[in-house]
Amino acid sequence: MSIEINNIAVLTSGGDAPGMNAAIRAVTRTALYYGKKVFGIYRGYEGMIENDIVELNTTSVKHILALGGTFLKSARSQEFRTPEGRAKAAKNLKDRNIDALVVIGGDGSFTGALKLAEEHGIKVIGVPGTIDNDLYGTDYTIGYDTATNTVIESVDKIRDTASSHNRLFLVEVMGRDTGYIAASTGLATGALSIILPEKNNTYEELFGDLRSAQANKKTSNIIMVAEGNHLGDIFEIATAVRKEFPSIDVKVTTLGHTQRGGSPSTNDRILASVLGHYAIKGLMEGQEKVMSGMINQKVVFTPLGDAITKTTALDYEMLTIAKILAT
Ligand code: F6P
Repeated sequence: MSIEINNIAVLTSGGDAPGMNAAIRAVTRTALYYGKKVFGIYRGYEGMIENDIVELNTTSVKHILALGGTFLKSARSQEFRTPEGRAKAAKNLKDRNIDALVVIGGDGSFTGALKLAEEHGIKVIGVPGTIDNDLYGTDYTIGYDTATNTVIESVDKIRDTASSHNRLFLVEVMGRDTGYIAASTGLATGALSIILPEKNNTYEELFGDLRSAQANKKTSNIIMVAEGNHLGDIFEIATAVRKEFPSIDVKVTTLGHTQRGGSPSTNDRILASVLGHYAIKGLMEGQEKVMSGMINQKVVFTPLGDAITKTTALDYEMLTIAKILAT
């Protein structure tokens, strides 16, 4: 089935992620290839409300494949959360005869996209762009691979100094209320313990890991802490460890937004190119209110509602392996 779509807009929304530019490029060039007009919306939904929209051509997206961030810029719009804000935004699309919208972002961005589709009949399709890897319907989100590579590069460096000084480092990584980044990078850096929102971590368990490390004469250790964990703030955890183990030299490093920047990895460039390309093909074939994703090397379309509300279980075996290998 082929659906008549002539004018397509693209935006990036929410936290930026490496590979968003590659996705914009793929969306733009695929749409142009099929004879569509393409519009770039600056600053996500904020720009849609403020009519900050420009027509894109093939050179608008030249040399952006390797760039981190998003040249369309991104924002988290409060006004778009209101029906009035969405009505203003929809009018700006309709005034340009834009019939379809590609939203590159995470769950908050897709929630807004769904509302826009339901209230104003705009055809929307999502492309998963977030370092958190927390969307159902794709094995990986665009940006996750680069972010985890950034984390391991930093933690390898931290390991050098931890080892030189016989120190314990608590390293905080992003992921909002999920622990995909912490779990995978914990395994990849040989972290002694991994503290995650998905797990009911206890001090007893953490102190047990540290006692085993001491018994095994490990002199330097890394503890990977996901920002959304339930044990506590990383500085509180550090204080508790210092109290229990006064002889251990405990340091805290928060990697923060370094995880969101940088040139996308090969995997992220490929994922962004393929999913951006298929977002346009999907729209032309009548897909809407779905997210393009990649599962077992195959492109799949998942209803946006499912992508937002369902979760892919964390690979708990990864945690078991990490524990066996690190003690
Ligand atoms: O969703 C991506 C993310 O980087 C999360 O991991 C983090 O919790 C959040 O965004 C930080 O948001 P901001 O950059 O707005 O502080």
